[in-house]
Amino acid sequence: MQETFSKLNQTHLDTLREQGVLVLPDFISEQTISLIKKDTSPWLEKVGFNNRISSLIIGNNQWIEHVGMCSLAALKLALDENLIRFLEDYFETSVALGSFSLQRKIFPEKGIRLHSDRGEGLSVFLYLTNPSEKTGVTEFIKTSHTTEIKESYLLKNAIDDAAYIDIEKSPLKSKPFKKTIGNKGTLVMFHRGIWHQLPKFQAPGREILMMQYFQKDSPAKDHLVKNSFLQSLSKRQSEVYLSNCSSSSLPSLVEFGSDPEAMGVYKIPAWKMFVYVLRYKLISKV
Ligand SMILES: [Fe+2]
Repeated sequence: MQETFSKLNQTHLDTLREQGVLVLPDFISEQTISLIKKDTSPWLEKVGFNNRISSLIIGNNQWIEHVGMCSLAALKLALDENLIRFLEDYFETSVALGSFSLQRKIFPEKGIRLHSDRGEGLSVFLYLTNPSEKTGVTEFIKTSHTTEIKESYLLKNAIDDAAYIDIEKSPLKSKPFKKTIGNKGTLVMFHRGIWHQLPKFQAPGREILMMQYFQKDSPAKDHLVKNSFLQSLSKRQSEVYLSNCSSSSLPSLVEFGSDPEAMGVYKIPAWKMFVYVLRYKLISKV
């Protein structure tokens, strides 16, 4: 793993800064991906409703919110020393791991229209399945993280989770999309402000390891982690994971069991979470 991230260089850094997105096809070895899948797949089997300490379902997505509870291989990847060094160069300061989760698409989808995630951080996607249009690939408008967003082309959305725009009215109209190519192990890094979308896809099954990094003293989720995993981390890795964040946390675990507040901006009632799990158990093809 150290080998892999040591390949990151100044050109990668410049591309990420200027274009807002960096796609690294087949970057992580198949062996590491298999290891992560072996660790995480039993957790995907144990789905409960509104259960953030195993896996949970929100709409078409199944999440493992705290990958630090199930996969040391994934944790070591998210906190790789060379990756941390690269991120420190990007942010020009120390970094904090804001969230560390796994998302599996359990149904085909109409897609997610063009939007910009909020915040100044950096998101990293690691494809654990082969990126394909059949199972959905996120695409990006290069350099759009620097585009000024005017009120006139912002769309109103019921859930305040991201900013959405009417592309026809915006300066992003007719700009080409940066596609993700490669196989499982492909890594995508992007500025959270970049405009991106997920076009409609026909088949469920896409699995992505998702990391969010922020500069030191930014809010992060309250990570749950196996104590035994912490012993194999260096001081710097532990700091990035557990102590570089600010004292206020991102929406995260509030209490065990059903708590609508625990769903952050979504405020999904317990009955709906129950319906999501039921729907998954009865009709999902994954
Ligand atoms: Fe997004």
